[in-house]
Amino acid sequence: MLALLADHRDQARTRLRPEVWDYYEAGSGEEVTLAEAEASWREFRLRPRVLRDVSRVDLTTSLLGAELASPFVVAPMAFHALAHEDAECATIRGTGDAGNLTVISTRASRTIEEIGAAATGPWWFQAYLMRDRGLTEALVQRAAAAGARAVVLTVDTPYVGKKDKVSGTRIAVPDDQYLVNLAQHLVPGAVGRESAEQDPSMTPDSIARLADVGGLPVLVKGVLRGDEARRCVDAGAAGVIVSNHGGRQLDRAVPSAHALPEVLEAVGGAVPVLVDGGIRSGTDALVALATGADAVLVGRPVLWALAAGGAPAVTASLQALTAHLQHVLAVAGATCPADLDPSMVVRARA
Ligand SMILES: Cc1cc2nc3c(=O)[nH]c(=O)nc-3n(C[C@H](O)[C@H](O)[C@H](O)COP(=O)(O)O)c2cc1C
Repeated sequence: MLALLADHRDQARTRLRPEVWDYYEAGSGEEVTLAEAEASWREFRLRPRVLRDVSRVDLTTSLLGAELASPFVVAPMAFHALAHEDAECATIRGTGDAGNLTVISTRASRTIEEIGAAATGPWWFQAYLMRDRGLTEALVQRAAAAGARAVVLTVDTPYVGKKDKVSGTRIAVPDDQYLVNLAQHLVPGAVGRESAEQDPSMTPDSIARLADVGGLPVLVKGVLRGDEARRCVDAGAAGVIVSNHGGRQLDRAVPSAHALPEVLEAVGGAVPVLVDGGIRSGTDALVALATGADAVLVGRPVLWALAAGGAPAVTASLQALTAHLQHVLAVAGATCPADLDPSMVVRARA
């Protein structure tokens, strides 16, 4: 892990209320998948190229029309108000200032409109299909109006994974923050938390439906198999995000690093493929990009930065990752992500 990220993590641990720290860090079940996430990127070894002119390295990345300083994307995460008083408004500003892209969670603790107004860079909106589908559709339409450039539909959460460390979000998150983006759509007195729960009967039809409703491309997040990725693309997905939800959904799900090659093969370049889970350095990102990912998402380190120092710390964290990726790319003999290919990574023997 990069030193700055570890420093932010240590600061966050002392600043956050213990139940918030636990909520952020937790994995589901016995946390087997959580424990493997970071280590799985380190199982790979690099086969560098030499005698290339690497005096200039260009990390600029184009993702569904968004121009980024580097292929780092901030993963959607709930309730940033637990980390900083400016919540997602600080995150989106810090990320935009670094030249990167933010994915804003359905469970954001500021309104979509406030977050859109604070944005200094491109952003996408993460949707869950809720039991009341009209709620999801209303949020997607509001996100499109507020400036979101794509929708990320998270599909690995038919039910929220059980985390022993936290009894749901109810401990950490008061009702007014939980329902921030839904309040205006709920009938007064209705039991909001139930209608806002994920709909466990969701099928691939929802992908095209949400694309129609918002007029935006829909990426699908939470795919760990090639055949499932293909199903999503066939149903109209504009991108696939390989993810096990940071080890928070199905415990003992495979690490994203192991699932990535089969998803890339199945998708065959039809749409961008992104990956997340345990990315903590430029070298982790290098392994993902050389395997074939178009970009990587970073989760918890952004919450640590937010807790440690608000928007400027988020900017610094992303810039540190970018600088490190730039360095390791050059030392591996590449001048840009397109120079990388799977021949540069090999799985180390156990
Ligand atoms: C506190 C927390 C809240 C999260 N909330 C969401 C969410 O609302 N929607 C979603 O799609 N993923 C959510 N995730 C999963 C992240 O988007 C991402 O997949 C994961 O955190 C990446 O792994 P990393 O934290 O190891 O970088 C959450 C993760 C954390 C740690």
